[in-house]
Amino acid sequence: MFYQPRDDSFLLKEQVIKLSKGKRVLDMGTGSGIQAETALNNCAKSVLAADINNECSSILKKKGIKFIQSDLFSDVKGRFDLIIFNPPYLPLDKREDEESSLTTSGGKRGDELILRFLKQSSGHLAREGIILLLLSSLTPQNSIKRLLKKLNMNCKVISEKNIFMEKLEVWKISN
Ligand SMILES: C[S@@+](CC[C@H](N)C(=O)[O-])C[C@H]1O[C@@H](n2cnc3c(N)ncnc32)[C@H](O)[C@@H]1O
Repeated sequence: MFYQPRDDSFLLKEQVIKLSKGKRVLDMGTGSGIQAETALNNCAKSVLAADINNECSSILKKKGIKFIQSDLFSDVKGRFDLIIFNPPYLPLDKREDEESSLTTSGGKRGDELILRFLKQSSGHLAREGIILLLLSSLTPQNSIKRLLKKLNMNCKVISEKNIFMEKLEVWKISN
């Protein structure tokens, strides 16, 4: 089972269309491959899709996109002009089963996986490279802002959408 594209996927996709042309792209947490496929269709220079869940490999193969099973950057080599991540960003809900929470929960607080991703990503970002990160108002954001400051990285909200009690945001992060 992998994550079926939802509002967060579509909000991020709009920015991938604008920013992937000619870029070496990494789609972290690719799921169905929606972001990787969008980058490919938008004339990205190269596209690599990564996910901890190996069940994604067959759908990515069908789409003709290179896939690697990896816990964040553990098996990813090289640097990228554009790193896309629609992460699991919600605080852990103990009522949710383990398989489903792998796609939705970023840890007990909700920010743990994102913090780990950002710490590792600077070693894989090309000069002038950017990260497109999907975040929610339900994700603790102060810790993320503090880490970005410590890493000397800039961030800007470039797109947002309200959905019931939640606001989704796309952050553009750069060195
Ligand atoms: C919210 S889904 C996003 C799927 C897709 N990119 C999209 O935009 O619809 C989050 C994805 O992150 C993956 N994921 C969770 N933990 C991960 C980790 N440690 N390393 C890599 N991928 C991870 C999940 O398997 C899931 O496919």
